[in-house]
Amino acid sequence: MKIFLDTTDITAIAQLSETGLVDGITTNPSLVAKSGQNFEVLLREICTLIKGPVSAEVTAPDHATMLKEAFHLAKIAPNIVIKVPMTQEGLKTCKVLSDQNIMVNVTLCFSALQALLAAKAGATFISPFVGRLDDIGLDGLDLIADIREIYDNYPAFKTEILVASIRNPAHVLASAKLGADVVTIPPDIFSKMFKHPLTDIGLDIFEKDWEKTKQQILKA
Ligand code: G3P
Repeated sequence: MKIFLDTTDITAIAQLSETGLVDGITTNPSLVAKSGQNFEVLLREICTLIKGPVSAEVTAPDHATMLKEAFHLAKIAPNIVIKVPMTQEGLKTCKVLSDQNIMVNVTLCFSALQALLAAKAGATFISPFVGRLDDIGLDGLDLIADIREIYDNYPAFKTEILVASIRNPAHVLASAKLGADVVTIPPDIFSKMFKHPLTDIGLDIFEKDWEKTKQQILKA
C-alpha cells in the first residue's frame, strides 16, 4: 500500500520524506489556505522534495476553465496529478486529461457509483472521503469495501483507490485490510503509526541490559 501525506506543510514533508516511506502528496484548496502560501510556489517546493505523485486541485467549476487550469498546473512538474471534483464537469475533464496521459485524482467521492464513473473516465486515483462519511453517522470504510469489490470485478479499470479524509491510524489499518491502494494521511497520523508503548518499554529494557555488558558495537 502506498502512503501519501495529505499536507502543504513543507517542514513536515521534508522531515517525513527522509524515512523513505512517503510515496506522494495530496493537497487541496483548504490546505493551501491553511499554509498561507502561494499555490504554485508551494507545488514547486513539494515537487523538489517528492518524486512521487503530487496532487494539485483545479478550482473552476466548468470544464473549459478546469481544463485550462489543469494544463497550467501540469506544466509545473512531471509528477503533478490533477485533482478534479467528482462532478459531471470534473469527470469530463478527467477523461480529456487521462486520454492525454495526464494523471488525474478524482476527489470528493462519497459513493461507489461515483467511483465507478471515475474509473470509466480513466482516473488514476479515486479519493473516497472516509472521515466525512463517519462525521454524518455513516461508515466511511463501507465505501472502500464497495469500491474495492466493484473495481476487482472489472480488471480493465486501472484506477487506484486513494483513501482520503483519514482521521486516525485505525482508518489506515482498515484501509490496508480492505485492499486500498493508497492512503493519504496528515503528518501527525503518519508519525503515530510508528509508535507502540510495548516498543518503547522493550527498547528501554534492551538499552539497560546492553549497558550491563559494557560493550560497544562501534569502538571509539
Ligand atoms: O485531501 C482531502 C481530505 O483528506 C480532507 O480530509 O479531514 O478535511 O475531511 P478532511
